[in-house]
Amino acid sequence: MKEIVLSGIRSTGNLHIGNYFGALRNFIKMQDENDCFFFIADLHSLTTHPDPLNFHENVKTVLSEYLASGLDPEKSVIFVQSTVPEVSELYTLMNMWSYVGELERTSSFKEKVRKHPNNVNAGLLTYPVLMATDILIHRANRVPVGKDQEQHLEMARVFARRFNSLYNVDFFPEPSAYNFGTELVKVPGLDGSGKMGKSEGNGIYLADDEKTIRKKVMKAVTDSGTVDAGATMSEPVQNLFTILQLVSSNEVVQFYMEKYRAGEIRYGDMKKQLADDICKVTLPIRERILEIKDNEKYLNETVKYGAEKARKSASKTLAEVKKIMGFKWN
Ligand code: ADP
Ligand code: TRP
Repeated sequence: MKEIVLSGIRSTGNLHIGNYFGALRNFIKMQDENDCFFFIADLHSLTTHPDPLNFHENVKTVLSEYLASGLDPEKSVIFVQSTVPEVSELYTLMNMWSYVGELERTSSFKEKVRKHPNNVNAGLLTYPVLMATDILIHRANRVPVGKDQEQHLEMARVFARRFNSLYNVDFFPEPSAYNFGTELVKVPGLDGSGKMGKSEGNGIYLADDEKTIRKKVMKAVTDSGTVDAGATMSEPVQNLFTILQLVSSNEVVQFYMEKYRAGEIRYGDMKKQLADDICKVTLPIRERILEIKDNEKYLNETVKYGAEKARKSASKTLAEVKKIMGFKWN
């Protein structure tokens, strides 16, 4: 059975190859198997990034990068959250069956309070309500989320159940996590340990030019290069191999693995190959990003088209919710 899959995307910052291999590549495949909704959560970003000067530009950047990578507005519903006013209306209603106590106990809220004590706005408190609205308004059953979003997804289930029991209906499905299973990869950074991430400052970005990529890869941390038979590979070198496996052919991986085992590896050569192969994946995407970002007409049309499709599905849910709740004027 086809599932309704929905994913919200933060509009803060450029996409790196960790996002690409960890999430996006799977999204692109998912489009052929499910009814997918992908949207940019610009309302959510206002809770922490309210600057009107960057607001539009950030959405445009992320949208262009997703489209350039292969999200297809014909196969999926691709939209911007704020262009679907039904979301804001259902969010108002959802707030009536969400409790302040449970929202205050959310980890992400507590963390924000700790980190930014001067900006504890009500939007931060109700962030999980808006996120649950995003999911429930399309009656999605599957939501691909990382670890940091699991609690929010659990809350969406709580709100769905609570509505159903409060009004004695079987209306909202309970959304569960979409698991990519064995295909789930964690892309490491090139700084020796840990994952690649925006806040880690160790990203190779889809929008990076060739020179930048080569510079970043050549600077990657390695080790002395002397290997004893049977010794375990150091973490920085394992990381290089992990990325090599994602971008290079089996023969190339095999070649460097044998060199490594024989204690003959020259990391400079391996990095050059790695940079070449990363460029092969990202440079065509970079070209499309630049094209799309410059094409105001295409972007406007795409957002309009996505909003039309998303509003159709959202308004249907909203009308049914209002009927269940006892609204009778329309
Ligand atoms: P970032 O770390 O850049 O802030 P996000 O937390 O916004 O990334 O994650 C967006 C998506 O990309 C999530 O689905 C997340 O699991 C995936 N992702 C981010 N970094 C990596 C990585 N290094 N390896 C694999 N997947 C990643
Ligand atoms: N909170 C999510 C994040 O920070 C983004 C998001 C907003 C989302 N609404 C959503 C994700 C609905 C999945 C479903 O990454």
